[in-house]
Amino acid sequence: MYDAKLEVSKLLAPHVTGLETQEIYNMLEVPPNPEMGDIAMPCFRLSKVLRKSPVQIAEELAAAVQENEHIERIECVSGYLNVFLNRSHFIQKTLSHILETGKGYGSSDMGKGKTIVIDYSSPNIAKPFHVGHLRSTSIGNSLYRIFEFMGYRCVGINYLGDWGTQFGKLITAYKHWGSEEAVKKGLVKELVSLYVKFHQEAEENPELEEEARQWFARLEQGDEEARRLWKWFIDISMEEYQKIYDLLDVKFDSYNGESFYNDKMQPVIQELKDKELLKESQGAMIVDLEEEDLPPCLILKSDGSTLYATRDIAAAIYRKNTYDFEKCIYVTGVSQSLHFRQWFKVIKKMGYDWHKDLHHVPFGTVSIGGEKLATRTGKIVLLEEILSKAIEKTLETIEAKNPNLENKHEVAQQMGVGAVIFSDLFSNRIKDVSFSWDEVLNFDGETGPYVQYTHARACSVLRKAGDADVEVQAGLDSTLLSSEEEFQLVKTLAVFPDKIMQALEDLEPSVITRYLVDVAQNFNRFYHEHPILVEDQAVRNARLALVKAAKSTLSNGLRLIGLHAPERV
Ligand code: ARG
Repeated sequence: MYDAKLEVSKLLAPHVTGLETQEIYNMLEVPPNPEMGDIAMPCFRLSKVLRKSPVQIAEELAAAVQENEHIERIECVSGYLNVFLNRSHFIQKTLSHILETGKGYGSSDMGKGKTIVIDYSSPNIAKPFHVGHLRSTSIGNSLYRIFEFMGYRCVGINYLGDWGTQFGKLITAYKHWGSEEAVKKGLVKELVSLYVKFHQEAEENPELEEEARQWFARLEQGDEEARRLWKWFIDISMEEYQKIYDLLDVKFDSYNGESFYNDKMQPVIQELKDKELLKESQGAMIVDLEEEDLPPCLILKSDGSTLYATRDIAAAIYRKNTYDFEKCIYVTGVSQSLHFRQWFKVIKKMGYDWHKDLHHVPFGTVSIGGEKLATRTGKIVLLEEILSKAIEKTLETIEAKNPNLENKHEVAQQMGVGAVIFSDLFSNRIKDVSFSWDEVLNFDGETGPYVQYTHARACSVLRKAGDADVEVQAGLDSTLLSSEEEFQLVKTLAVFPDKIMQALEDLEPSVITRYLVDVAQNFNRFYHEHPILVEDQAVRNARLALVKAAKSTLSNGLRLIGLHAPERV
């Protein structure tokens, strides 16, 4: 890939004694507005090394750098060295690279031989799949695709919440008020109402709590009936979740949930004892984290039962042994931050230096009309409902604009679902989001359908051009792409690899989501200003090359955030 910044650093380096090319590279900036050049050196950063004023440094450097193929001109403005690139050289190099790499544009093999474990989605069995779970699912899925694109082996784990005292409650409720037919008919919805009913009834009748405890104990001891019901509840839930994963086009490599670790906790508890980390506190067993300035991590309750943290510790050790990960990433709501901080420290205290490879990737809370989502009170918006409304709306648009579209149901699904995922991945993940039907169903402006539509527009031009493929590669005279719109578009396309790196380092898919809007806007500006399929073959080829490069970038980027890039819409 042509890296203009690197070329500029190489040109400056001989004139800055004491600094390596790489150090210069790191000092270079991309000015916020194109009038200040394409690349700039803030010379105050060199003042210390060169012992001169920034203004003087800028002037001396400008004079020293010889005329060359990379740079068109250099301006000195208040201590900044503003570099204007040789546009046609830059365009030539950048477009050739994008066209050569195509589907691989932006990828790398930096992750070769390394494994990333990503724990995401992870809904709790017998609870509805609501908008809150969408965030974990879409962020995790995107991170998976980003790491994979960069050559890592990824292991996606759906750590199902399939164990815990809530199953005792559910079985109790089922025994009292449920029936096989009702559950078969109502599925997760029915399970949720049984769960809600349990809590209502238990307020009047506290013995139910005791009964639930007993059922959970029977489940833990492997009682036949308890296990059969538990397994049934899981199957019903999974069937429903699977429909959503299919719609979202999300896959997992493992569904080892909390129950998978039932028989793996005892050795860990023993290890904690052996390492003298377990302490008794009010009948419970804890790991003290006072030195870390954190509340203690609860490992065993006073009745001997294990906890969420106990299972997470056992799971992390199992994953390290099984996958030998470079990083293990946990995508959950920010409300679980303390939980992760605590048990990460326990791993550290156990003497495992890979504790530093555990990363919690938190996201902000989803609320509806200012209230937190809550299964128990029925304050939820089901994801299934959102997705089907979005698909329906997209289909209406297609029926109005392009009723003869061949696979319109498939496209409506790809765009409707795309709209939902895109809006979920648009803001920095840590920002709280307030769910609004209007927003989710608004497809104008900075949305997934807008980007997908732009991609399809590029495809349509290429289709109309016919044999574009051959010609685009053969003849590209980049001096013909001399307009501002064309240059700005190429500049935008050129930063795709940087954006992917930034998203990977910050574990932040929104970097790519917002970047795609930028690409689409730049493409549309170019598209509106410059006819592409013109008579002049050379101009036509040059513009087609640009369209093709934009198309590759858009489709690669869309895939990285988990969206499809349909060719016709
Ligand atoms: N099941 C949990 C929830 O819905 C999320 C699990 C996250 N992963 C983990 N290893 N703790 O809140």
